[in-house]
Amino acid sequence: MGARKVLVTGCSSGIGLALAVRLAKDELRRFKVVATMRDLDKREALERAAGATLNRSLEIRQLDATCEDSIRECVNSLSDRRVDVLVNNAGVGMIGPLECQSVSAMQELFNTNFFGLVRLVKELLPDMKRRQSGHIVVMSSVLGIQGLLFNDLYAASKFAVEGFCESLAVQAMKFNVKMTLVEPGPVVTEFENKVYEEAEKMDLSEADEETAQIFRQIYLPYSRKIFHSIGQTPEEVAEQTFKLIVSKNPPFRHQTNRLYMPLTAMKHADPTGRLPIDAFYKMIFQHDRVFNASLSIMRILHRRMGQGAA
Ligand SMILES: NC(=O)c1ccc[n+]([C@@H]2O[C@H](COP(=O)([O-])OP(=O)(O)OC[C@H]3O[C@@H](n4cnc5c(N)ncnc54)[C@H](OP(=O)(O)O)[C@@H]3O)[C@@H](O)[C@H]2O)c1
Repeated sequence: MGARKVLVTGCSSGIGLALAVRLAKDELRRFKVVATMRDLDKREALERAAGATLNRSLEIRQLDATCEDSIRECVNSLSDRRVDVLVNNAGVGMIGPLECQSVSAMQELFNTNFFGLVRLVKELLPDMKRRQSGHIVVMSSVLGIQGLLFNDLYAASKFAVEGFCESLAVQAMKFNVKMTLVEPGPVVTEFENKVYEEAEKMDLSEADEETAQIFRQIYLPYSRKIFHSIGQTPEEVAEQTFKLIVSKNPPFRHQTNRLYMPLTAMKHADPTGRLPIDAFYKMIFQHDRVFNASLSIMRILHRRMGQGAA
């Protein structure tokens, strides 16, 4: 069997870049990687990381997930339009009080995180169904399972991703097409820098004083602590995603950070939804010490596990 063609979106940085390079450097040479990004002027970091694999097992193409023409042009440029594995990774973040975000910014977020996925699947699934083979791997998030304070819109976009994939997975299975949702917790990438930079500059005048204070004085410092205590590297997430891609029988869902599992498990443990909401409320507003102590324990576990993940 020849090398499998893998198309990865959002490869200018972070998880997409790390995964494209990991696949291209596969010792068994099982993959030809089409590493895409919306702005080719940002290709330098990927070119450097790809090293000798550049233009051998890894080629770089332009693809903007918000533009159907750009997706079609990229896919049409591939021999027989063949994509064996799609990795839908491109995504943007958004945090802050709802009152301070414009509806057009929210629509832009959905246009990338949700409709970007829809456009790519719409373009590639018919070919995969015809060939009766393929794997669609989607970078979701633990926030696609469990919502989080001040992440209302981002979590909603990842919930949409999860609902879309869950619905489609049964039809895909009928045509022998596999689907996998990868659900990382915090990962230290440009993503984090971008959302915090925007949060620092955010005009909070539309929010009442108490909400603005909760965001600035509680949410932002806690959130940074979490990233720096239990955040994974993009290479860790890429390695786990690589294993899912080479697996003969990949799961539908895969959480990359074991330390997050108790938080997402609460949701399934209580169908009334009270358990996770009460737990998050207490963790954030009532038990500062408990929160900090839990974080220290998680930090130790994270170090002991070496990679903080399965
Ligand atoms: N970092 C985390 O904590 C975390 C946790 C869970 C899930 N995730 C998910 O993981 C994925 C990758 O994020 P990351 O952490 O690696 O962040 P990142 O370093 O910011 O990478 C995001 C990538 O998506 C690209 N992108 C944004 N809009 C695009 C568009 N319209 N078309 C094509 N590419 C576009 C970015 O390109 P530009 O450079 O041009 O902006 C960049 O290459 C995202 O889906 C994110 O939601 C991240």
